[in-house]
Amino acid sequence: MGHSVVTAGGGTVFMSATMSRRTAVLSWLLLVLLSSPHFAVAENGGSSSCSSSASDQECSRESDAIGESSRSRGPTLRQLERQRRCDAQEDEERHIYTQEDWERLRRLYRDQGGTTVEYPEGEVMSVAPPGFVPPMVARQTADGKGRGIFATRNITKGSMTYGGKDNYAFFSTGEAFRRFVGALSDSEACDVMMWAWPQVNMGRDFETLIVVLLDSNSLQNHASKNGGHGGLKGGQVANTGCPRGMECGMFDEYALIDIREGDEFLCDYDDFFDADLWEEFGL
Ligand SMILES: *[C@@H]1O[C@H](CO)[C@@H](O)[C@H](O)[C@H]1NC(C)=O
Repeated sequence: MGHSVVTAGGGTVFMSATMSRRTAVLSWLLLVLLSSPHFAVAENGGSSSCSSSASDQECSRESDAIGESSRSRGPTLRQLERQRRCDAQEDEERHIYTQEDWERLRRLYRDQGGTTVEYPEGEVMSVAPPGFVPPMVARQTADGKGRGIFATRNITKGSMTYGGKDNYAFFSTGEAFRRFVGALSDSEACDVMMWAWPQVNMGRDFETLIVVLLDSNSLQNHASKNGGHGGLKGGQVANTGCPRGMECGMFDEYALIDIREGDEFLCDYDDFFDADLWEEFGL
């Protein structure tokens, strides 16, 4: 699908803005969302009956059934992208969002009833100190990937590069996601569709949610942890994520190697992105 060839920055090399190190991140979302008024999974036709004893297969069948019912409700991502003429924008230099732009998007999300998520006690969402400011700035890349984010200072290996979940938006249905996209300008809508990804929840009910980060870190591009990912100039290596052997907050990211001021932040999102999951949302 189209999304698989667009970078977070809006270039045309890799996958859309998704971050593999968050593969485990959303394991708890469903539990929480079930108790959140906005996301009461009612929109999905009731809570999944997948129990911990149900097989994955049973669960995916049920998911398919849910997808079936929402598929008929509205346009797919592909159709929305056509409506918004997203293709035409790919060749242009894409907008670098200001703080105000991001705040407006987050406000819109909240105005539509969106909330953050809470997790069961004992789960570490973030150990970012209050007021932590990620040492990053967004700008156009020099290598044709489009936009990217870059280190604003030297960062030693193991230091936090991003923390917290406050700027994330979560959608439990295709309808909720369409409603949000529907309130955006064409270029914002194209961006949000490019940045968002469906994430399997490994929690009790095997729920999948659409996730999109509404701050500059959404522009973080992909590189393999091992470097040399197909065709990327210079064989760049992922330099952020959760360092091996370290316990990371689910929404936190760290420098995997020493990062110099001006280096592009790159994360490895090879593992997780499964475009088929969009179908569960009728998207
Ligand atoms: C950042 O690191 C580089 C290379 O290690 C060094 O040359 C430079 O002086 C450092 N800058 C600061 C502000 O510490």
